[in-house]
Amino acid sequence: MDAVILVALVLLTGLAVQSADLSCKTFEEIYPSGKELCEKMWGDGFVYETNLSVGFTMWFFEAENPNNKVAERLGWPSPVDDCHLQSLHKEAPGPEPDNFTECYPWRDYSCCHQDTVQKIKEAYGREWHWERCGALSSACNRFFVQLACLYECEPNAGFYRKFPDHVYNDSDPNHNKWQMEGMPIRADYCDSWFRACRYDLFCGSGSYSSCAREYTKVGNTGDNGGNAGLIAGVVVACVIVAVLIGTLGFFIFRERKGEPLFNKLEAE
Ligand SMILES: *[C@@H]1O[C@H](CO)[C@@H](O)[C@H](O)[C@H]1NC(C)=O
Ligand SMILES: *[C@@H]1O[C@H](CO)[C@@H](O)[C@H](O)[C@H]1NC(C)=O
Ligand SMILES: *[C@@H]1O[C@H](CO)[C@@H](O)[C@H](O)[C@H]1NC(C)=O
Repeated sequence: MDAVILVALVLLTGLAVQSADLSCKTFEEIYPSGKELCEKMWGDGFVYETNLSVGFTMWFFEAENPNNKVAERLGWPSPVDDCHLQSLHKEAPGPEPDNFTECYPWRDYSCCHQDTVQKIKEAYGREWHWERCGALSSACNRFFVQLACLYECEPNAGFYRKFPDHVYNDSDPNHNKWQMEGMPIRADYCDSWFRACRYDLFCGSGSYSSCAREYTKVGNTGDNGGNAGLIAGVVVACVIVAVLIGTLGFFIFRERKGEPLFNKLEAE
């Protein structure tokens, strides 16, 4: 899904970035530390967790997903057998083929499809949506990819759906099935992210969606024709639509809800 978020925002906003018109600042200027990075960029999606035994990680190298143990310690049912979140997610987690390389740590038990990841990966160009202020360093960029994999592939992320099934009301326009809330992330992970991105540029006040809105406001020609050219075929087009509905909503919808964090940020 690295790709998922990417493509969605790339398509929404178009590829023609007027960097000069955005208020670009270094991460270091926007966020005092890894805590603010994790807690502000994605609204209330993530929480900075200093007790590492109960904080999730967005990437791992072990054969067994360490997040399973974390979820157990937090009292979530184990093993997790439902993906809960729905954007491009599978219904239930399961293995993916060997060529599942984009988000490979989750290969054995993933909520994202190899095909989805692969197609989307092929569909996006170099214009990662978070590169609105120019290319990010590869060290920094990597963390965005990891976040995207966590969101799309990590079964335990589903426990943090903002409107879980017992709350979700299909006829309430404010509800959705893709938004996350309050997932505790290991403090050292957030700190590493901050260090990696420290001197890279990002726009706006630090919330992902305010940056997106600012970007939209600045105006772009929406050069989707060229972009669409990259994306051959109806199947992929459908994926893109799903992505738009799902992922954009994920970020922008929460904005409409007037979340306190965003308001606070914008007031600054
Ligand atoms: C960290 O969390 C674990 C599991 O909930 C708990 O047993 C432990 O006391 C916590 N440690 C600290 C320092 O709060
Ligand atoms: C990945 O592997 C699966 C099953 O082996 C195959 O169906 C699929 O076409 C492969 N995808 C790519 C992009 O190679
Ligand atoms: C679901 O949402 C609709 C529209 O907002 C509302 O009228 C209805 O009462 C809600 N149902 C429940 C069970 O909350």
